[in-house]
Amino acid sequence: MSQLFPGADVEPVELADAGGMVCIRTASASDVENLSIYFTGLSATSRNKRFSGARADPGAVAADCIATSGGLGNFTLLAELREDGRGTIIGEALYAYDATARQGEFAISVADAFQRKGLGLQMLTAMEARAIDLGHAMIAAETARTNAEMRGLARKAGFNDTGLGDWQSVHLAKRLSR
Ligand SMILES: CC(C)(COP(=O)(O)OP(=O)(O)OC[C@H]1O[C@@H](n2cnc3c(N)ncnc32)[C@H](O)[C@@H]1OP(=O)(O)O)[C@@H](O)C(=O)NCCC(=O)NCCS
Repeated sequence: MSQLFPGADVEPVELADAGGMVCIRTASASDVENLSIYFTGLSATSRNKRFSGARADPGAVAADCIATSGGLGNFTLLAELREDGRGTIIGEALYAYDATARQGEFAISVADAFQRKGLGLQMLTAMEARAIDLGHAMIAAETARTNAEMRGLARKAGFNDTGLGDWQSVHLAKRLSR
């Protein structure tokens, strides 16, 4: 889409105080190592929220994200900060289609230093556009009731609480339209 950043899914964005342009693009097999470095660099709090408290080896999780995104209707988006000819991953979003539930499900994170600058919303918007292109009609996510950031992001993006969560988690969904 962009001549400046071949492979970008949306036009590169300039984040406040980021020090460079941010490119949102689809992950590929060559990103496993850098994605693992990204997960390692997340704060314990962000990592806990991203993986719902599960202890996860960053290398294995990164490999898993890339492997999952190779499936039909699945993909991983990366937000990459480009500065001085180098690229650093500062966000990721994994999208996987559940054919039984007939909805795409996603998990997302943004590097701590870049949170609350609008990047999560940009990635979610790019993800929705991609899901629509794939012909998917519904997108959903589950998060902890205590996760104010994720609930706030989902609310801003137009998601509703489906009521399918339990005392610990909330299930959020949005109908997609072309
Ligand atoms: C959830 C997360 C991805 C949001 O990314 P982000 O880039 O910080 O979000 P944005 O800057 O795009 O914020 C969009 C909206 O979300 C809401 N939001 C974001 N952070 C918030 C916070 N700390 N408290 C309340 N609302 C928040 C706000 O409505 C915000 O809009 P505003 O800034 O105009 O008020 C990020 O906080 C994160 O990585 N958290 C750790 C991992 C995680 O919890 N993942 C979700 C479970 S899979």
